[in-house]
Amino acid sequence: MCGIVAYIGPKDAAPILLEGLQRLEYRGYDSAGVVVVNKGLKMRKVKGRVADLAAAVPARFKGATGIGHTRWATHGVPSDENAHPHLSNDERIAVVHNGVIENADELRAKLEADGAVFLSETDTEVLAHLIARTVKESDSLDEAVRTALKRVVGTYGIAVIDAERPGEIVVARNGSPIVLGIGEREMFAASDVAALVRYTRQVVHLEDGELAVLKADGFHTFASDARETAKEPLTVDWETANYDTGGYEHYLLKEISEQPDTVARTLRGRLDERFNVAHLGGLNMDAREIRSFRRVKIIGCGSAYYSGQIGAQLIEELARVPADAEPASEFRYRNPVVEPDTLYVAISQSGETYDTLAAVQELKRKGGRVLGIVNTVGSAIARECDGGVYLHAGPEVSVASTKAFTSTAVAFALLALHMGRVRDLSPADGRRICEGLRRLPDQIKEILALEPEIKELARKHASAPSMMFIGRVRGYPVAREGAQKLKEISYVHAEAYPASELKHGPLALIGPEMPTVAIVPDDELLDKNLTALGEIRARGGQVIMVGHRVADPKLAEDCLVVPKNEVELDPILLSIPLQLFAYHAAVALERDVDKPRNLAKSVTVE
Ligand code: F6R
Repeated sequence: MCGIVAYIGPKDAAPILLEGLQRLEYRGYDSAGVVVVNKGLKMRKVKGRVADLAAAVPARFKGATGIGHTRWATHGVPSDENAHPHLSNDERIAVVHNGVIENADELRAKLEADGAVFLSETDTEVLAHLIARTVKESDSLDEAVRTALKRVVGTYGIAVIDAERPGEIVVARNGSPIVLGIGEREMFAASDVAALVRYTRQVVHLEDGELAVLKADGFHTFASDARETAKEPLTVDWETANYDTGGYEHYLLKEISEQPDTVARTLRGRLDERFNVAHLGGLNMDAREIRSFRRVKIIGCGSAYYSGQIGAQLIEELARVPADAEPASEFRYRNPVVEPDTLYVAISQSGETYDTLAAVQELKRKGGRVLGIVNTVGSAIARECDGGVYLHAGPEVSVASTKAFTSTAVAFALLALHMGRVRDLSPADGRRICEGLRRLPDQIKEILALEPEIKELARKHASAPSMMFIGRVRGYPVAREGAQKLKEISYVHAEAYPASELKHGPLALIGPEMPTVAIVPDDELLDKNLTALGEIRARGGQVIMVGHRVADPKLAEDCLVVPKNEVELDPILLSIPLQLFAYHAAVALERDVDKPRNLAKSVTVE
């Protein structure tokens, strides 16, 4: 959700900024811009993609200090004027911003009364005018930024340059991520390590309220009261290769195809076949504490929430603790009752989703014990939680989540096994789950080999105006995620319902023009699921059954048969053909698969 890059060092900043923006484009892609200091500020910004910006930046765009931005619009339509950076009227100060300034209207009115002329509709522009005023009365740029930020209500990750101080960049964070990259006599900053890994592995995450001054030879960080803070650099191990499509047509297909490896990485070193338990050292909780929980509440947004629904099911089945999942965005606004005997689990691929982060902060404020299931090491949510499980799935670049979804479900299986084995899960059931988890990577390979068949089906149904996804109990979150994947990348309307609920309303929608994808595992609900298929076929609906057997053609026109695992783990495998189905439907419809319209990865605004 908006990407920021900053560079200061001996090289020309522009190529480094453009490269970084390219890597951050998943965060927003409606406009982009860069500014460098070179005897004043030189700026280019355009409506469109980073490639459009690169084409607009002339070869002679020299300057060794610069900041850049790729935008996902919040205030003001995508346009050249609303693109960042924003400059002060004297063209001394340039600002790029990720977040939302809540009191922007009020500040704007005051600044206009003071003579500021606004050139955009954005909330960000108030920052440029504010800092231009404070900088005149300050001894340093960081003091000016600090003073200006005292008047701001809202969230921000910002980078600021001053034409009169070409040797420094100031960055600040409150609710929107900023990570510093430490190079050899050069410094970087960005919204995400993705923009930095080509240049350095040494990074420092800013905390909310922190500000940093970057110079070519190093950095200093400060708390909001100007006290210097001590920061330990972290070494990131993500490879640059993770940020290339690696020969695949899209990141999405690459990330779907990586799942045998990413699931194996989530499991690595965590299964103990001697005692049939899971080792999760990052929980920071002993067995006594695990036993003391009477409930588990899982929170996350979008696909993370759906993987949490799979997680809740796993925890109830294996650990026999009541568990449920709820969208973090709703949870934090309903003044939830926070109980000491409830274990809270927050899920996030990016570790930066604002709604999830704010829910975790609310829980912590009220004394809740919160674990994080997070992909991005050192991210804000990971830091905020009391402990947790890292997915180790590697960076997810495509906007639609796939490998993080399956790895989260696998992490929940580990957590459920761990909780179950210190409560009342038998060693035999523990072994059954351990063995099932070990089989997953090879079974995922078998599912990926079904791609030609799935592609055919997707092409056949891509022109449907609407699709229904159904499942029951374990299959229901799979259906929800399947519908989510289809709508977000192909823009085909999709509904997900428990199969049992069809006759209570949505059956009225069924007809030849609305195909149904039915999740039908071989479990205790098989017969009931097949009955629902009969009801759909009787109304002229087409059925694509995703399960473990070929059904009677009277019940399902098409069947996708996937390998069977333990019933508790089957939802993980059943999700994968639906990812490929959505992908191929989107390709058939010529959608922008990795950057679907109106969306951005890492939703760092409310
Ligand atoms: C859908 C998708 C989103 C994210 C959601 C949470 O494919 O990617 O629904 O799952 O925005 O993001 P994280 O997991 O980064 O908190």
